[in-house]
Amino acid sequence: MDRTEDIVELLLTTAIYNEGGISPDDLPRNMRQNYWDPNKGRMKNPIEVTGRDVEEIYGIKDAQKFVKSIPFIDYIEFGSKIRLINLEMGTKWFLNREDSLERVNNNPVLARYFVDRCLIDIDCDAVKRRNPPLSSDRGWVKFLLNNLSKDKKMIAALDLVKIYSPEDLLFSMEDLVLTEEQLAELEKMVVAIENSEYLGRLKLYDIGKLLFIGPPGTGKTTLARATTKYFGLPMVEVRISMIIDQYLGETSKNIDRVFELAKRISPCILFIDEFDFIAKTRTSDEHSAVKRAVNTLLKSIDEISLINDGVLLIGATNHPQLLDIAAWRRFDAVVYFPLPDDEMKERILEILLSNAEGEFDLKEIVKLTEGFSGSDLRLIVKGAVLGGLKEKRKNITEKDLLRSANEINRRKELRGDIGEVFWN
Ligand SMILES: Nc1ncnc2c1ncn2[C@@H]1O[C@H](COP(=O)(O)OP(=O)(O)O)[C@@H](O)[C@H]1O
Ligand SMILES: [Mg+2]
Repeated sequence: MDRTEDIVELLLTTAIYNEGGISPDDLPRNMRQNYWDPNKGRMKNPIEVTGRDVEEIYGIKDAQKFVKSIPFIDYIEFGSKIRLINLEMGTKWFLNREDSLERVNNNPVLARYFVDRCLIDIDCDAVKRRNPPLSSDRGWVKFLLNNLSKDKKMIAALDLVKIYSPEDLLFSMEDLVLTEEQLAELEKMVVAIENSEYLGRLKLYDIGKLLFIGPPGTGKTTLARATTKYFGLPMVEVRISMIIDQYLGETSKNIDRVFELAKRISPCILFIDEFDFIAKTRTSDEHSAVKRAVNTLLKSIDEISLINDGVLLIGATNHPQLLDIAAWRRFDAVVYFPLPDDEMKERILEILLSNAEGEFDLKEIVKLTEGFSGSDLRLIVKGAVLGGLKEKRKNITEKDLLRSANEINRRKELRGDIGEVFWN
């Protein structure tokens, strides 16, 4: 790609942005991150383009060299300012480039501008959907945390959760093998997020609470975390076991704090892992403070809404049979995570081994994995890799995998897999 085109795209985009009426969500992320001030929580306004910006965004060191001969660009030595003198000429030049369409396809500001002027014909909504919104930037979460840490009430809450942006996540949905049902539920949520105003008008407030259930190691935690990238929203992750305090009165307060925090971070995903933890306590212990904590949890869930508060709730549990019916009822979708069938197992192994060297027949391995979960398969791969390394090899052989699979099988028998007793 030509460097001059990078600079012209930046100049056009910022010039159009400066005319007003455009949401920061529509700026391509690399441009937005450069001009968004995480201390103030807003975009620079108006945006001026300098040689330093061009270096920051594209790694182009000597911008003036590229723009010198372009008639519609002015370079001002003082402050190394780069200005677009004529938007129309710039537009024409840009649209005549070979890769202009590819660029517009990833730039909602330009897409909208060109389509409105009938200069090109593309689906602006699709371009917009592909562009990560401001709420998915690391800088956005940083700004929120910065603000919240000034609020005494929120400091205690910040200790109870992990907050991260989609950008912080190292894996994505592509690393997971999902069932049709799981994918369908997630797609429904995408549509609900996009149309939350409309749903609000129809008073359909009870949308946006998902409960992931299934045996241990079937990808619930991993998928819940991956939704931060999928939905482009920051994630507030809490383990219920972390907010249970030895002073039970404090537990109720912690629950309140966490939900309050999620509302302040909105739009976001609130992920509660080990959701059964509290319900379980209630069945074994009738202590009134425990009951109070459960009631606080149920009430908090009632009072938080994707439509009104912009908080999508995901709960996950390995032991749904321990949840009482009142907790179940509060989720509008229950997503089941089964133990993988043979085809899924093969695909999971493929993913786990995609960066490994070696030849192997995965079908043979799958034959040894009766009742295995995704995380058991991961253990097989780990064992096989370590087995190779022990012999100073970095390739993996069929034998490594078979040996490891047998080993995991033995271990599972010894453990008598408590999880499966519940599930089978
Ligand atoms: N469906 C799946 N596709 C790909 N990998 C999986 C799948 N299920 C589990 N795994 C692997 O097992 C690991 C542990 O899964 P995890 O999300 O912790 O399960 P759970 O929360 O259901 O107990 C994941 O990091 C992943 O490597
Ligand atoms: Mg888990």
